[in-house]
Amino acid sequence: MEIDKEKILKAGKIASEVREYAREFIKKNMPLIEIANRMEEKILGLQGKPAFPTCLSIDSTAAHATPSYNDSRIARGILKIDFGVHIDGWIADTAFSIDLEDLEENKKIIRASEKALEAAIKTIKKNVQLKEIGKAISREMELLNLNPITNLSGHGIDRWILHSRVSIPNHDNKSMILIEEGLYAIEPFATTGIGSVHDGKPSGIFRLENERNVRSLIAREVLEFIIKEYQTLPFCSRWLVKKFGTKALIGLKQLEENGNLHSYAELIESSNSLVAQTEHTILVEKNGIIVTTE
Ligand code: CO
Repeated sequence: MEIDKEKILKAGKIASEVREYAREFIKKNMPLIEIANRMEEKILGLQGKPAFPTCLSIDSTAAHATPSYNDSRIARGILKIDFGVHIDGWIADTAFSIDLEDLEENKKIIRASEKALEAAIKTIKKNVQLKEIGKAISREMELLNLNPITNLSGHGIDRWILHSRVSIPNHDNKSMILIEEGLYAIEPFATTGIGSVHDGKPSGIFRLENERNVRSLIAREVLEFIIKEYQTLPFCSRWLVKKFGTKALIGLKQLEENGNLHSYAELIESSNSLVAQTEHTILVEKNGIIVTTE
């Protein structure tokens, strides 16, 4: 597949600028909706677009929590900030975790996910087996007496497709599949718990599955907007309320019932234990790699 390296690098640069901006302004007790709005506005201000809704997941919620339009949750605990930028469908996906409680335990879990990502980045290159990346990640976690979440993984990225081709394991999954040239996200999750997640409540994040015809006017309007604006990338109800008002929620419900959408659930650590996550996007080339979100 032909790639547009210039757009990939530009999306990565915007993502790292937004990450550093977020690190500065996020404080304990800030409304999650304010954090998401400020980050997404910053992305637009830098001439990018959000590649998926800003996820703000707290403590034992590992991933896929994004504020609804009338959310009242506030920042606390171990906050995982996972967000994406795209330019013309070329994606940068990055995440970091912050400890808002000033607890040694929290800092250790965060450090484990950061160290694991560093080790994985040192390992990944063309023709490396997937299991070698997983091994590098779990080794770092074990050094700190923590577990990787084994049913969450990194992923290949293609234009307009956030999760594509292969999964990058967070443990030794014995896979001898070789890394090829292309774009990947690596995202180790460290936990004090058993190291798996299950579905929690619906997150308000969706992805278009098909363009099947739908009857009501508002559902049709929302569907047309999704096709034009997000294509196959994830989006959230908060974004649609911003565009159409709360009647978007009626349209969304009808689209869901009509089978047009895939709905994502929040992901909860199965022993209800603390989780930290760190993520970068990596371009694997013939003779080296570039961490686009560095
Ligand atoms: Co990712």
